[in-house]
Amino acid sequence: MKIKQLITGILLSTCALSVSANTAFKEPSDAIKYRQAAFSMISVQIGDMGAMLKGKVPFDAEQFKMRANNAAALSKMPWEAFYAGTDKGDTSALAAIWSENEAFVKKAAAFAENADKLALAAQTGEKAKIGKAFGAWAKGCKDCHKQFKD
Ligand code: HEC
Repeated sequence: MKIKQLITGILLSTCALSVSANTAFKEPSDAIKYRQAAFSMISVQIGDMGAMLKGKVPFDAEQFKMRANNAAALSKMPWEAFYAGTDKGDTSALAAIWSENEAFVKKAAAFAENADKLALAAQTGEKAKIGKAFGAWAKGCKDCHKQFKD
């Protein structure tokens, strides 16, 4: 159990990006669909949290917590689906993901970490803290897309 946790920790800290194959997926197209689905679910979380923070919809601490927990889980999910051979097909992933893989993995890991911090901040119910953590996490989208997404 301890070894398993250790391995899980190492995998997460290097962001579980398998460079070769990933037997969880049958076809590269399945992996592409999977990561796109994860991003589309992430979008729903960020949209609702952003609307609450901007006052477009009433701030609901419980709902925000739920969104932030979803975001924390989802922010760890797309990365394993970026293995070699998933660069072609119905995807807007740029080749730089594989040619500059270290930078991509670093951004993905920071993004996942910032989502964990957001989930922790959401527990406090303190809007100033939450806003700051949200900003740090949300910055990661554009920061990655401009370099790695078409
Ligand atoms: C570390 C890099 C990275 C981060 C961080 C990241 N994305 Fe992306 N995103 C990508 C890549 C690469 C794709 C293209 C995936 C594909 O088409 O295979 C993508 C695709 C998407 C898509 C299109 C999904 C589809 O159905 O085609 C949406 C929407 C999206 N991202 C939203 C977000 C949002 C919102 C955030 C931040 C909360 C975010 N992403 C953070 C790299 C990232």
